[in-house]
Amino acid sequence: MNLAGKKILLGVSGGIAVYKSCELLRLLQKKGAEVRVCMTEAATEFVAPLTFASLSKCPVYLKNGAVEARPFQHIDFPRWADLYLVVPATANVIGKFACGIADDPVSLCFMSCTCPRVIAPAMNVAMYNSPAVKRNLEVLRGFESTTVLESPAGELACGEVGQGRLMEPAEIVEWLEANSPECHPGCEASGNHTVRTGTCKNGKYCAPAVPVGKDVPPTQDKTLPGYGKKVLLTAGRTEEAIDPVRYISNRSSGKTAVALASVFYANGFEVEVVAGPMEAAFPGGVKVTRVRSARDMHDAVMERLDQADAVVHCAAVADYRPAHAADAKIKDSRSQLTIELVPNPNILRDCTAARASRTGKEASRSQNAGASRNQNSSPKHQVIVGFALETDHFKEHAAEKLVKSGADALLLNAPVASDSGFGHDCVRYTLVRPGMDVPEMKMGGKVDLAQEIVGFVIDKLRV
Ligand SMILES: Cc1cc2nc3c(=O)[nH]c(=O)nc-3n(C[C@H](O)[C@H](O)[C@H](O)COP(=O)(O)O)c2cc1C
Repeated sequence: MNLAGKKILLGVSGGIAVYKSCELLRLLQKKGAEVRVCMTEAATEFVAPLTFASLSKCPVYLKNGAVEARPFQHIDFPRWADLYLVVPATANVIGKFACGIADDPVSLCFMSCTCPRVIAPAMNVAMYNSPAVKRNLEVLRGFESTTVLESPAGELACGEVGQGRLMEPAEIVEWLEANSPECHPGCEASGNHTVRTGTCKNGKYCAPAVPVGKDVPPTQDKTLPGYGKKVLLTAGRTEEAIDPVRYISNRSSGKTAVALASVFYANGFEVEVVAGPMEAAFPGGVKVTRVRSARDMHDAVMERLDQADAVVHCAAVADYRPAHAADAKIKDSRSQLTIELVPNPNILRDCTAARASRTGKEASRSQNAGASRNQNSSPKHQVIVGFALETDHFKEHAAEKLVKSGADALLLNAPVASDSGFGHDCVRYTLVRPGMDVPEMKMGGKVDLAQEIVGFVIDKLRV
């Protein structure tokens, strides 16, 4: 399972190993997963919920709630999740899962989630070998969409030796990456899932996993809506040289572009990316060309433009660059330094202009060929989506930018909240379309944002 973009609900119950789930949370985030947490009351005695809330950047679902928590977390969290991980799972919650008791957040989420569930037991060896725990684990192994991880033998926190240790967080991550926990029954992707893109008869549709590794071909599944279509993405930020060691740039991490590349791939598109510097890594199956400056990105995009059915301009391109980049490092003279800035090319506008001129030429060519009698000969519409990042007067600025850009839609986003935007998994956004009121901004994951754009592109290509 590719963890990038995965939404993981982490259920924490009250054993001595609770501190290890903090490490697990961090490791999952490092792999690109978004994590939310629910805890039993006993778990909060071992590690304060504040730790998990701070690490996950989201209120923890607790028995008595928290002031800032959402009112329907017992439904919200399990519905949101692609995977429910219970780490550590105490003998007590294991018993509840097996018997259908749901009187705390961890067991309630177990009952109400429809995604795959993975349980990592941790307890004293005598408890682990007790007939009740043995039977309950056996019952859980028989549940659909439920995996019980093997508890390794070794020295336990209580000083005794035997089976009952928690699988190490790094091993749990390794296991998740190597396996695809079973999805809901009847899922056509038969457990091979990464990104949800719609609904199937069981309430969820799981697209094929995005493979990891180089030179992975596009998916050959002809039933996917993007089959046979090519999308060109721009990603990351640009760096505009001041001298050989200094540059002007911004804080874009590239996470949104990675989410977009994954969702496009999962929908069958051939994905090509022109990427500036960025931290987030692309999955396999995505062709990436690296560039540094806005002008390099412009040239690379224009070269590839004609082959694309859709173009999504996700990169945070510097609007300006220094008029002259010094050949040698500028010396520190402690006196005022003024850098003259000149505008960079506007990649989005140049793409829509190129599309307009190409469409015009194609139309007149087909007219000259007398193809106007043939209804199937109208030139195909290349879909172009831009991004607008605003910090004030969102609606006015986005509406104006959309008209000026000539794009089919503009993704308006605002990294103004301390917990969203650059480098985070959440963002405030809305999709702006020509001739329509600008919808209210909403808070969502970058994968949600990507799904909205991919859905829009698919609809447009069908027209
Ligand atoms: C110091 C201490 C450590 C404990 N460690 C474990 C453990 O590792 N596994 C376990 O199943 N129970 C353990 N327990 C017992 C549970 O905390 C207890 O059964 C509790 O009711 C579990 O609640 P919960 O399942 O709702 O989180 C421990 C208790 C204490 C006081």
